[in-house]
Amino acid sequence: MTIDYLERIPNNVGLGENRMLQRALEQWQPKFLDWWREMGPSGFQAADVYLRTATSVDAKGWASYGVLKMPDYRWGIFLADPTQDRMIGFGDEFGKPAWQQVPGEHRSTLRRLIVTQGDTEPASVEQQRMLGHTCPSLYDLRNLFQVNVEEGRHLWAMVYLLHAYFGRDGREEAEELLQRHSGDRDKPRILGTFNEPITDWLCFFMFTYFTDRDGKFQLKSLAESGFDPLARTCQFMLTEEAHHMFVGDTGIARVVRRTLEVMKELGTDDPEAIRKAGAIDLPTLQRYLNFWFSSSLDLFGSESSSNAASYFASGLKGRPDESQYEDHIARDATATIEVPDGKGGISSETLPLRNGMNETVRGAYVRDCEIGVKRWNRVVQKAGVGRELTLPSTRFRRSIGAWAGVHVTPEGRIVSREEWDRGIGAWLPTEGDRAFVQSLMHQVVEPGKMAAWIAPPDRGINNLTIEYEYVHLQ
Ligand SMILES: [Fe+2]
Ligand SMILES: [Fe+2]
Repeated sequence: MTIDYLERIPNNVGLGENRMLQRALEQWQPKFLDWWREMGPSGFQAADVYLRTATSVDAKGWASYGVLKMPDYRWGIFLADPTQDRMIGFGDEFGKPAWQQVPGEHRSTLRRLIVTQGDTEPASVEQQRMLGHTCPSLYDLRNLFQVNVEEGRHLWAMVYLLHAYFGRDGREEAEELLQRHSGDRDKPRILGTFNEPITDWLCFFMFTYFTDRDGKFQLKSLAESGFDPLARTCQFMLTEEAHHMFVGDTGIARVVRRTLEVMKELGTDDPEAIRKAGAIDLPTLQRYLNFWFSSSLDLFGSESSSNAASYFASGLKGRPDESQYEDHIARDATATIEVPDGKGGISSETLPLRNGMNETVRGAYVRDCEIGVKRWNRVVQKAGVGRELTLPSTRFRRSIGAWAGVHVTPEGRIVSREEWDRGIGAWLPTEGDRAFVQSLMHQVVEPGKMAAWIAPPDRGINNLTIEYEYVHLQ
């Protein structure tokens, strides 16, 4: 399905034939652009950036590359092509036709799900807005901006649903998506992780690896929704999300590679010596990883959740890759979760599978996170270094669910408050770590050049060389 670029708002949803919706979105558009100028990438709005834009939603056309200024990016509304006679794939409504309109009884729940997803998209742009000033290369700068414009488009995707299907309250929610801001004391973003500052590029790579991956799993769950417009919207967003995780995955891999080079040159694994040479020592990397992984785990919600059960039962939010499961109803099935036993140990608890859906999705997420860690470790092993990166226990540093407030080490051991306080400096980034990483953050904008703390990428974007001038500064 081709996207109509003649429209003010490029789309493949027939916006031209729906005057009311078109007017509503055209009223929202200037507010979005104001938000982009104020809260989007700081300092580069006039730069020419090599960006990809979707021109159709099929495999061929969704990524057309060209040079443009970010405010001229064609944020549009693109849904994956419909599946004929699509049925609801799970829950109590299994096998009934998917909804093309919002079912009245699910209206407020669906709106809440869409708003919560929508809120994360502009939040991440806000979190990352200062990073351009300290980019390690033009290649990385371009990737940052690609991620940013696409998160902007994901906001459009959610705002389309609110405007098209939720009437007046949908329009109000769309306004509020531009009024809440990441880290704002009075009007913060809805979810905790999206209020964490991203002040350096190591945070950015951790965020795009771990937090964008949470996004992947949320979108995969919503792509199963019985509400067909939501499912199709999320399916298309997933194609863009893959690049965001690629940025994180390869970003961390390049930091690791550079660190190993420096360790080899110096013949030491002493963090101080490595830092003095301008690279990031592996223990610091591990602490950043611990922080962002544990923060992202909370985004999946409580292990036992009646909300999750009712989303599943009513066909609103499924499991990622629902078709791979045998039992799509999950009415009598059970799940086992780990909970603190209140005596310093761990016990297991059996609950209805539907109530354990968050844990099911979180488990799939953790397995996905492990793939990259294994890849990074292969490079570490090859270098003959004994210190590997690991994912901390899912019980570590949780603020939501059964493990919230329980003192658990990265290995998963429950410890006393005192032991936790003693260990924390080795487990999570300290002020000193953050100040050190910050001290490395200097802008490098000579084509092909890289900051000293990160190795060059294996290849450029879209078959271009690494030396290509991905961002032309004015
Ligand atoms: Fe997104
Ligand atoms: Fe993303």
